[in-house]
Amino acid sequence: MNVLLDLQNKTAVVTGGAQGLGLGMATGLLEAGVRVCIIDSSQEVHEIVENLRAEYPSVYCLQADLGEVDKLPSVISEAIKLLDDEIDILVNNAGIHKSMEASKLPLQNFRDIFNVNVTAVFELSRLVAAKMVQKGAGKIINIASVLAFQGGYHAAAYSSSKGAVAQLTKSLSNEWASKGIQVNAIAPGYFNTDINRHILNDPDRFQSLIDRIPAGRFGNPEELKGAVQFLASEKSNYINGIILPVDGGFLGR
Ligand SMILES: NC(=O)c1ccc[n+]([C@@H]2O[C@H](COP(=O)([O-])OP(=O)(O)OC[C@H]3O[C@@H](n4cnc5c(N)ncnc54)[C@H](O)[C@@H]3O)[C@@H](O)[C@H]2O)c1
Repeated sequence: MNVLLDLQNKTAVVTGGAQGLGLGMATGLLEAGVRVCIIDSSQEVHEIVENLRAEYPSVYCLQADLGEVDKLPSVISEAIKLLDDEIDILVNNAGIHKSMEASKLPLQNFRDIFNVNVTAVFELSRLVAAKMVQKGAGKIINIASVLAFQGGYHAAAYSSSKGAVAQLTKSLSNEWASKGIQVNAIAPGYFNTDINRHILNDPDRFQSLIDRIPAGRFGNPEELKGAVQFLASEKSNYINGIILPVDGGFLGR
């Protein structure tokens, strides 16, 4: 499998990889032979990465809050240093959500969500692209959402931020495709992770969503491994600016 994907010894930064979908995708890249640096604001990232290192010696981490966007140039250069000054793949996964009526959402929450979900994606992408351009190759994989296509419920800040991620993906792809950088996005449907705790703890809401998902269940983080490996590999070199749903059929319903 690794030979087919040709990801051996590539280097990747995965944001928000201490748990949930980011951890699933980071593990998928490690399984394919990629050297990975996880950037996450959680203190637990150190222990998570220590545990991963038992199986994958080339996994590193950096604890940083991507919402502090002015610090991102030094954060990303530190991460790239841990990868021996190489960066082939960036997975912009870190994201936050606050489920609340729009009329009650404090403006600061809206700003925080946009800082992490959009501004950090923009800033990290152009910082790594500057390095990828020199090589004439690179993969940027943004994690959007099915709420890039739908408004969601009590999700005005989140869904508008994910709509922005989708547009940013196409826009950056248009600028960098000719320079050998493929910018694409994955749009996950509903997965069993902490970001959905409010849904998982609400049996009626949970059931109504299950009823709308043709696969009849939420996804598990491992189920993003294939999509991220493919978009990180040379097999997707002529795929530019797509938003790839991985959603158990949700959007087709
Ligand atoms: N789970 C889903 O159903 C789903 C669906 C669509 C899209 N997504 C997107 O997938 C991504 C991952 O979501 P998840 O479900 O794994 O969420 P999660 O809450 O389980 O994990 C998010 C991770 O990001 C980290 N993080 C949060 N804010 C950060 C910051 N400011 N700086 C650095 N790290 C930060 C957290 O510490 C955590 O490790 C998000 O962008 C989310 O919007 C998730």
